[in-house]
Amino acid sequence: MARLSKLDRSIEGKVALITGAASGMGRATAHLFSDEGAHVAVTDLGADGVQRVVDEITEAGNSAKGWTFDVTDAGRAAVIIEEVVAEFGRLDMVINNAGIALFTPIDSPDYPDNWATSIDVLLTAHTHTVRAALPHLRRSDCPRIVNIASTEGWGATKFNSPYVAAKHGVIGLTKGLAVDLGREGITVNCICPGPIVTGLTEDIPENDRVVFAKRRTALGRFGQPEEVAHGTLNFCLPASQYMTGVIMPVDGGLLVKNA
Ligand code: NAI
Repeated sequence: MARLSKLDRSIEGKVALITGAASGMGRATAHLFSDEGAHVAVTDLGADGVQRVVDEITEAGNSAKGWTFDVTDAGRAAVIIEEVVAEFGRLDMVINNAGIALFTPIDSPDYPDNWATSIDVLLTAHTHTVRAALPHLRRSDCPRIVNIASTEGWGATKFNSPYVAAKHGVIGLTKGLAVDLGREGITVNCICPGPIVTGLTEDIPENDRVVFAKRRTALGRFGQPEEVAHGTLNFCLPASQYMTGVIMPVDGGLLVKNA
């Protein structure tokens, strides 16, 4: 019998742009991808946070460069993506990770503003990076888009409806783009993290975290950002070329646990 073909599991030399990479899961993904030999464009709101992660990566002997980037700024997306390609010669992967969480009941005076901001940052922003990156992804031999949604893209936590709506939207966007771009070999997938220890959850008291995780997740604990980064890496491997439109929980079993 003929041997099975061997598919490539290396992202060495590929170029990944990661949004919201100064903290949490974005930072962990930047570290993991650079450890795997990719050149990483570290992007986030503030120059100091970006530089800190670039320094961590370069001090580890790996390759990264930083850009300040507010993901709601479509013009800036186009500019920095050209700069990333000028710096590294190509762009293969876009990881739409930046996020905020604005809990607001529907009858709050802040609701309209929080709704608009949530949709801008968590959903519309993804379209800016994808549109700007597309000409370069079309030239890549391993073109990958990974969107970070949430278990809030499946269900809902109280008083979180703008976030919940945006994250449901990210799942829809992932499916739509997977269909649109599939014939070009560009894969588009989505990670739904559960409760992860990051900047977004650091204000939750430790005891509340333990109680929540024991009650709600099968594994009985919060996850670490690295554990989500590995899910993202799996979508980006050359060998993952037949996976697209996949909505993958990395949630410690939150979505499957009834009681
Ligand atoms: P984090 O707060 O540690 O990191 C988010 C990063 O996004 C920050 O560095 C922040 O500066 C950046 N950011 C916020 N607004 C931005 C903007 N307009 N432009 C550019 N960057 C911006 O939080 P975490 O948890 O690492 O968040 C990453 C993603 O994971 C988010 O999309 C979040 O919604 C999602 N998520 C987080 C969960 C958790 O339990 N931590 C659970 C499910 C999803």
